[in-house]
Amino acid sequence: MTDRKKPEELRSYRWFGPDDLRSSSHRSRTKQIGYAQEEFLGRPVIAIINTWNDLNSCHSHFPERVTDIKRGITAAGGFAVELPAMSLGEVLMKPTTMLYRNFLAMEVEELLRANPVDGVVLLAGCDKTTPGVLMGAVSMNLPAIFVPAGPMLRGNWRGKTLGSGTDMWRYWADRRAGKLDQAAWFEIETGIARSAGTCMTMGTAATMMSLTEALGMTLPGASAIPAVDSNHRRMASASGRRIVDMVWQDLKPTRFLTPASFQNAIAVDMAVGGSTNAIIHLVAMARRAGVPLDLDTFDRISKQVPLLANIRPSGAYLMEDFYYAGGLPALMAQLRDHLDLSAPTVSGATLGENIADAEIYNDDVIRPHNNPVKQTGGTAVLRGNLAPDGCVIKQTAIEDHLVRHRGPAVVFSNMADLKARIDDDDLPVTADSVIVLQNAGPVGAPGMPEWGQLPIPKKLLRQGVRDMVRLSDARMSGTSYGACVLHISPEAAIGGPLALVRDGDMIELDIPARRLELLIDEAEMARRRDAWTRAATPQQRGYAQLYVQHVNQAHEGCDFDFLAGPPGSTPEPVIF
Ligand code: FES
Repeated sequence: MTDRKKPEELRSYRWFGPDDLRSSSHRSRTKQIGYAQEEFLGRPVIAIINTWNDLNSCHSHFPERVTDIKRGITAAGGFAVELPAMSLGEVLMKPTTMLYRNFLAMEVEELLRANPVDGVVLLAGCDKTTPGVLMGAVSMNLPAIFVPAGPMLRGNWRGKTLGSGTDMWRYWADRRAGKLDQAAWFEIETGIARSAGTCMTMGTAATMMSLTEALGMTLPGASAIPAVDSNHRRMASASGRRIVDMVWQDLKPTRFLTPASFQNAIAVDMAVGGSTNAIIHLVAMARRAGVPLDLDTFDRISKQVPLLANIRPSGAYLMEDFYYAGGLPALMAQLRDHLDLSAPTVSGATLGENIADAEIYNDDVIRPHNNPVKQTGGTAVLRGNLAPDGCVIKQTAIEDHLVRHRGPAVVFSNMADLKARIDDDDLPVTADSVIVLQNAGPVGAPGMPEWGQLPIPKKLLRQGVRDMVRLSDARMSGTSYGACVLHISPEAAIGGPLALVRDGDMIELDIPARRLELLIDEAEMARRRDAWTRAATPQQRGYAQLYVQHVNQAHEGCDFDFLAGPPGSTPEPVIF
C-alpha cells in the first residue's frame, strides 16, 4: 500500500494553499463560483474530462453521467470540476476523427497541466475519444480512472436485430444490388441507433473500452455496461469515489500501463475479435507510457489466443448480449492462461482478483476456451514487399476462400478516383481482382480515414459477390468486415511500395503465411521506385499543416513525433 499523501502535498495546494497574493487570487476566483474554502482547499481536486457535445450522439448521456461522477467524488471528500474537451463524434466529423485524436490528446494533457488538478476521471467512448484522452492523461501522468461511455441498446428492424455499422454495410450492399427499396432503408436507419451509447457491435469503441478495462484503467466490468442501464450510473459514481482514494495513494497511470498490461490488452483484443484500429491506438498509448510495442507482438498473441466473443462483425451477437452473458470479466476468466493476473488495476485489486468469481451466463455469447468461435485471434499482421513495415487484416471477418488469394490489381490513385470509377460497368474487374487504393494513409488523406472497406463494384454485387481482396493504407471501421488489408506501411504518399502498384500486377495474399506480395521482379520494382516522385501535398493550414508535418506511420501509432518522451517529463507550470 502506497503511503497516503498529506493535504499540503496535493498538487492543487500549490495553487490554493500558500499565504500570498497569487494564491489569494486563486481562492478568491474559486469562491466567486460559489464554493466555500472548505470545499476545495486541502481536498483532491478531480477533473472530469468530458468529451461531450451536441453532435456526438454516442455521448448524449454524458451531462447526466457528470452529475453521477461528481456525486461520487463529493461523497469521497474530493472537489469535482468539469473540464470539457473536444468531442470526436465518429460519424459526423470529416474528413475523419483520426485527424483529431492527437488534438484531443494534446488538449487533455494541457488542460491537466495548466489547471489545479490532482486527479482525473476520463469520460469517453466513441472511437478516438478513448485513446485520445488516455494518451493525454498518460503523458501528464496524474492519477486517472476511465469511465467508458458504454454501448447503446440493440437495434431492431422488422423483427431482426441490427448491429451498428455492420448491418448498415450489409443491408446497403443489398440496397445497391436493388434488393431493398428506400422505405425499407429509412426504417433501417431509424431502427439501428435507438439509445445513447457507443456502437454496440465489437467496433473500435467497444474494443477500446474493453482494452482499457484489460489495461486496468477502469473498475471491473465497466466496459460492457449499456449506456442507459442504471448500473452505468452506479459505475460512474463508484469511479468518482475511487479516484479520490487514488489521489491520496498517488496511483498514476504508469503504475498500470506496463508491458504486462499491454500484453493482457492484446490478448483480450484477439479474444473479442477487436477492431483493427486498436492496434494503432495501443501502439500509440504504449509509446506514451514508455512501453515498447511492435506489430509482431500482436501477431504472436493472435496465434495463441482464440476468438471467444461471439459478437458482430466476427460473430452473431451484440454488446448488450455480451454484458448479460457476464461481460469482460467472464471473458478474461476464460483467458487466464494468457493473462498476467498479477497486473494491478485502478480498483486496488489485481486483475486476477477482479475476475476470480467471474462466470459465463450464456456460453454461446462468450464461448468457453474449449469451444471458441475460432481457434485464432481476430487480427493478423502481414508483411512482404508490399508492406515492409507491416499491415493488418481482420481475419475472423472474411470469406474463407479468400484466406489465400492471388489476383490482378485494379488500382485507384486516391479516393476521388475510386468514387469516380468503381461502379463503371466498363471497369476491368472480376471477383478475382484485387482492388487497390493508394494515398489514403496518415499523410496521404490526410488523417488515415476509415476508407479501407473499399466498395465492391456494383456489377459484381449484382452477380452476388459480397467479398473480395482489397488493399489500402487506410483504416477500416471496427464494425466493418471483409478481406480488406489495411494500414499498409509505409504509406503510398511517402513512397511506400503501395505507390508502385500498377493495373494488372499480380498480388498474392497468404494470411496463414502472414504474407502480402507484389509479384513483380525486383528490377522492375527498383525502376518504378526510381521513377516515383512525391506529389505536392495540398496546401494545408493550422492544425492540418501541423498534422502532415509531424504524424508518424501506422506501425508507429500515428502519434506526433514531438509528443514522444517519458510520461510526466514536461515541467510543471510556474505559479507566479
Ligand atoms: Fe460513436 Fe460508433 S459512432 S462509437
